[in-house]
Amino acid sequence: MKLFHYNTVVGREDFADRESDIQFLSQKIKKGRKVVLYAPRRYGKTSLAQNILPSGFKSKKTACFYVDFMDCSNLESVCQRLVEAYAITLRNHFKAASILSIAKSFLKGLSVATTPDPMTGEISFEIVTRRGELPKLSEILSSICSLCLEKSSLLVFDEFQDIYTIPEALSVFRSHLQALKNTPMLFLGSKRKLLTSIFSSQKSPFFSFADEHALHAIPHKDWKTFFYERLSPVKTKITDEALMLLCEEALDVPNTICEFGAFIQDYYREAIVDTSKIKLILSDLIDRKSESYRYQLSLLSASETLFCKALAHNGFTKELNGRAFSQLSKLGPSSSSRIAKKLYHAGVVEEESRGFRLSNPVLSLFLKNRVY
Ligand SMILES: Nc1ncnc2c1ncn2[C@@H]1O[C@H](COP(=O)(O)OP(=O)(O)O)[C@@H](O)[C@H]1O
Ligand SMILES: [Mg+2]
Repeated sequence: MKLFHYNTVVGREDFADRESDIQFLSQKIKKGRKVVLYAPRRYGKTSLAQNILPSGFKSKKTACFYVDFMDCSNLESVCQRLVEAYAITLRNHFKAASILSIAKSFLKGLSVATTPDPMTGEISFEIVTRRGELPKLSEILSSICSLCLEKSSLLVFDEFQDIYTIPEALSVFRSHLQALKNTPMLFLGSKRKLLTSIFSSQKSPFFSFADEHALHAIPHKDWKTFFYERLSPVKTKITDEALMLLCEEALDVPNTICEFGAFIQDYYREAIVDTSKIKLILSDLIDRKSESYRYQLSLLSASETLFCKALAHNGFTKELNGRAFSQLSKLGPSSSSRIAKKLYHAGVVEEESRGFRLSNPVLSLFLKNRVY
């Protein structure tokens, strides 16, 4: 039976639609282009870049280099992530026995430290300097570039905007990556403002470096097929209106839509789910999570809680400094701005084209429907 997966990276068989996005991105990759892929968190970026797009390569001849910069706050953590990703790429694309000899040609001043695991017998690799230290950013990038020139490669930089505030990181990246004219690259990001500062600001080293592509909400008809495939084996039917309401309450976030789907598949077998039933189901789900949400919310200040409640009430809010939001939240424009900034950086608040919202739509539902 097909399941609903959430909070995890998924493969093509668990991916609703995105056919045109997949085609578009595959074409770009084939042509060796660079693309910035923007979508809010939990929209499927990592799944696309890690699992779905690389499976389009017919043979394993293409080396897929995937690195995630989420929450990197200094140059050292960027280097650490890069060497870890580099070691994984080598392990995936070369036979263990030949890595040392093959890698010599593009490792340049670096070397591979190998450690066999006594339990599994598997060998783990670490990319280090000749003196066994963590290499500098330019050393790692120069080595990765040599690999790309030697072997057909795809470079994926996930949550790329997180290196924006690290001094010099962007210019070092740019100076190396610009040499790779024909290597396809994907820069994934979930913070639109920062991505724009990186790729659209004339002052940025990455100005006009890559084409842009955004993932939008998945159309209703595609969720319909997806839900049918997963609910009919448990003899449950969901009406069109109920599915629409479910997506609306999930603020169209694919991860939350799948979380709701999983809950129905697990607890509501042999049921007919219409709009009134959906309300009961979601209320049941919120009850089961309320302890955890009460704890999470207890960590916020009183005005941050008021802010989140107002956001939850609206679903999406275009203007955080406007009178309507002020009346609802009982906060002045300057407090709103300050809190918005803090919670945005903490990942509690998300900004998308329809406006600001709470990142977690289930928490949003909790705040909207329960006394807190
Ligand atoms: N097209 C899709 N079809 C079904 N579920 C999806 C789709 N895109 C994303 N998801 C859901 O989102 C979750 C997170 O996906 P992920 O690739 O980690 O997103 P992101 O990298 O944008 O945060 C997945 O576990 C899945 O539940
Ligand atoms: Mg991701």
